[in-house]
Amino acid sequence: MIGPRFSAAAETYDRHARPQLALAQSVVAVLPEMYPEQILELGSGTGQLTRLLVERFPEVPIDAIDVAEKMVAHSRAKFKRFPQISWIVGDAQTYWGGDRYPLIVSSSALHWVSDLRKTCENIFQSLEPGGTFALGMMLQGTLKELHDLREEIAPEKTPLTTLPTYEETSAALEAAGFRIERKKHSEEQILYPDAKAFLKAIHEQGVTGGKVSAGNAPLTRTELGRLVADYQENHASDDGVHATYETATFLLTKA
Ligand SMILES: C[S@@+](CC[C@H](N)C(=O)[O-])C[C@H]1O[C@@H](n2cnc3c(N)ncnc32)[C@H](O)[C@@H]1O
Repeated sequence: MIGPRFSAAAETYDRHARPQLALAQSVVAVLPEMYPEQILELGSGTGQLTRLLVERFPEVPIDAIDVAEKMVAHSRAKFKRFPQISWIVGDAQTYWGGDRYPLIVSSSALHWVSDLRKTCENIFQSLEPGGTFALGMMLQGTLKELHDLREEIAPEKTPLTTLPTYEETSAALEAAGFRIERKKHSEEQILYPDAKAFLKAIHEQGVTGGKVSAGNAPLTRTELGRLVADYQENHASDDGVHATYETATFLLTKA
C-alpha cells in the first residue's frame, strides 16, 4: 500500500528529498510561457513542486492530489498561508475533478502507479484541449546499486515490480494521445555521507518497504547489516557513498 507508507514518511521527507527537488525544478523549468487559470498537481506529497508552482503562478488555484491522507494533512497545515491550494486525498490513476484543467503537473509520483497506461489516459481526459502536462518521472535504474546488492544478498527477496523505463513511459504517454513536445532523460549520482545515512534517507523518503526496493519479505538484521557493509565497501569514495537516480522530464500537449 503506497498511501500508509508515504503517510509515515510525511514528517521527514523534505530533509532527504534532494533528487526529487531537482526533478520538481526541472518540471517547472520545462513549462512554456503561460499563465493557466487552474492547475492540477498529481502526487503532491509534502508540496515541493507545489511551492515552485506557487512562486511561478502566484494566486492561480491549484488542486493538489495525493493518495496518502497524512501527506495531505501535513501539506494542508504547512501551506495554510496559501488558500489558493486545495489539498485533496485522491488517486492519480482515477482522479476526476469534474472539470478539465489547462495545466496538469506531476513530479516523482507516477512511477508508483500500478497501471501507467491507464493513469496517462485518465490524465489525458482531465486535460483541456490545447492544455499542457509537465511530468517528472523516476525511472528504472534509480537506486540500481542497492538493487544489485539486494539481489546478491537475498536473491529470493527481489522487488515485486520494477520502475518503468524511459521507453515504457514515452510509449504510455503517446498511447494515451499526448504529443511529446520536449523530453529530457538523465542519470545523476547523489552523494550521501555513508551507507547507513543513505539507507536512512531513502527510508525517510518513503522509498523503502515498497516496490522500488523491498522484496516479498523484509531483510533480516544480518542481511541488512551485510547490505550496509557491502554498500559502503563497493560504492564509497572520498566524499561519501553514491546512489544513481535515473529520471525523465516530459513536456506534453493535448492537440
Ligand atoms: C516521492 S513523493 C513526491 C512528492 C512531490 N511531488 C515532490 O516532488 O516532492 C511521491 C508522492 O506520490 C504519492 N502517490 C503515490 N502514488 C499515488 C497515486 N496513485 N495517486 C496520488 N498520489 C500518489 C505518494 O503518496 C507521495 O506523497
